[in-house]
Amino acid sequence: MYLTRLALTDFRSYTEVDVPLKPGVTIFSGPNGEGKTNLVEAVGYAATLASHRAAQDAPLIRKGAEQAIIRTAISTSTNDALVEIELNTGRANRVRLNRTPLARPREVLGVLRTVLFAPEDLALVKGDPGERRRFLDDLLVAMAPRYAAVRADYDRVLRQRTALLKSAGPKGGPKGNRQSREAVTATLDVWDAHLARSGAELLVAREHLVTALRPYVERAYAAVAGDGRGPAALEYRRSFESQATRDADQADAGASHGERVRAAEQSLLAALLEVRASELDRGVCLAGPHRDELELSVRDLPARGYASHGESWSLALALRLASFDLLRAGREDPVLILDDVFAELDTGRRDRLAALVATAEQVLVTAAVPEDIPGILAGAHFKVSGGTLTKVADPGAA
Ligand SMILES: Nc1ncnc2c1ncn2[C@@H]1O[C@H](COP(=O)(O)OP(=O)(O)OP(=O)(O)O)[C@@H](O)[C@H]1O
Ligand SMILES: [Mg+2]
Repeated sequence: MYLTRLALTDFRSYTEVDVPLKPGVTIFSGPNGEGKTNLVEAVGYAATLASHRAAQDAPLIRKGAEQAIIRTAISTSTNDALVEIELNTGRANRVRLNRTPLARPREVLGVLRTVLFAPEDLALVKGDPGERRRFLDDLLVAMAPRYAAVRADYDRVLRQRTALLKSAGPKGGPKGNRQSREAVTATLDVWDAHLARSGAELLVAREHLVTALRPYVERAYAAVAGDGRGPAALEYRRSFESQATRDADQADAGASHGERVRAAEQSLLAALLEVRASELDRGVCLAGPHRDELELSVRDLPARGYASHGESWSLALALRLASFDLLRAGREDPVLILDDVFAELDTGRRDRLAALVATAEQVLVTAAVPEDIPGILAGAHFKVSGGTLTKVADPGAA
C-alpha cells in the first residue's frame, strides 16, 4: 500500500499543508526543528492512533488551535481509502473513513499500516520493559486489528482491579481495615476471572508473535550489524510462571491456540491467588501481561545493560525491519517510514539498511542532511522550511 496524499490542519507546527505522494522513495530534508518529523508523525498517527513520541494528543494540536486534522489518502491494489482524523481539545477525537464517521476511532486500525523507524527506537532496547510490551502490542494490532479491543479490555480490567486493591488500604492501616479487606476479597474473585481471561488472550497472542518474529529478527540483525556480529535473540517471559506450568507448557507444544489460551488463563488465575496477600498489602496488580517482558539478547548477553551503543541500535533496527518483513509476508507492504535514522549510523550500516528497505512499495525518509541518505534511496525530494514544503527538481526526470 502507499499514500497518495497527506494533508494537515493545525497539526504540530503546521497551520495547513497538503503533500501529494507517490510510491517509491520520498525524502523530506531541512534544518532541525522545521517540521520534518511532524509530517511522518502524522502518518504514523493515522495508522496507529498514537504518536511515536508523545504519550498524549495535546502536543499534536498546534499551539493556540482547538483542533488538529490529519487527512491521508491510501491506495492499495484493491481499493482506495480516505482516512480523516480530528484531534480535539477537551472532547473525544473523531475519525472518518471514506467520509463516513466511525462509531469508534479504533475501527480505522488496519486501513493504513506503517512501520516507523525513529531515534526513539533505541528505547526498545535500552528502555523499560513497558517499551517492549508496547512494541509487541502495536505490532499485534497491526497484524490483527481485533487485538486493539483485547488490549483496551485488558487495560480497563487492570485499572479497575488495581483501584479495588488500593481501596483495601495498606497493611496495618486504620481500624476497620480488616473488614474492608474482606469485602474487597469477595469482589476480587470476579476481577481475577476477568483479568485472567483477557490477560491470557493478550499474552498468548504475544507469545505467538514472538515465535513468528524470531527468525526475522535473527536475519535482520545479521543483515544490519554485518556477518558474525550476532546472534541476536528474543524471548517472551511471563511475569508469573511457576516451573510446574512451564513444564506443562513444554508438554503442550502441539496445543491449539484455544488450548493455550485456556491453559494460560488457568495459570494466571492460580498466580493471582498466590500473590493476592502481597497485592493487597501493596495495592498493585502483581501478575499478568502488564508485567511480562520481552527479553532481548546479543551473543547470549542481555541487550539491556550489556550491549554496546552500536549493537543496541542494530537490534532496534532489526526489530523494526523484522516487523516490516512479518507485516508484508503474504500481504501488501506497509508504508515504511525512516525518521532521521541515517545520521545515527556508520556508513556500512547505512548502506545495508538502505538496501534492505529499498524494496518497500513506499518509503518516507526524513533527514537534516540529505547527503546522509544512501544514493540507493533516490526519489521525490521536498525541502521543509518554515512550515512550507518545496519540491526539489528530480535530477533523474529530464
Ligand atoms: N503543538 C505545537 N504547536 C506549535 N509548534 C509545535 C507544536 N509541537 C511541536 N512544534 C514545533 O515543531 C518543531 C519540531 O518539528 P519536528 O520535530 O518535525 O522537527 P524536525 O524537522 O524533525 O527537526 P530535527 O531535524 O531536529 O529532527 C519545533 O520547532 C516545535 O516547537
Ligand atoms: Mg526530526
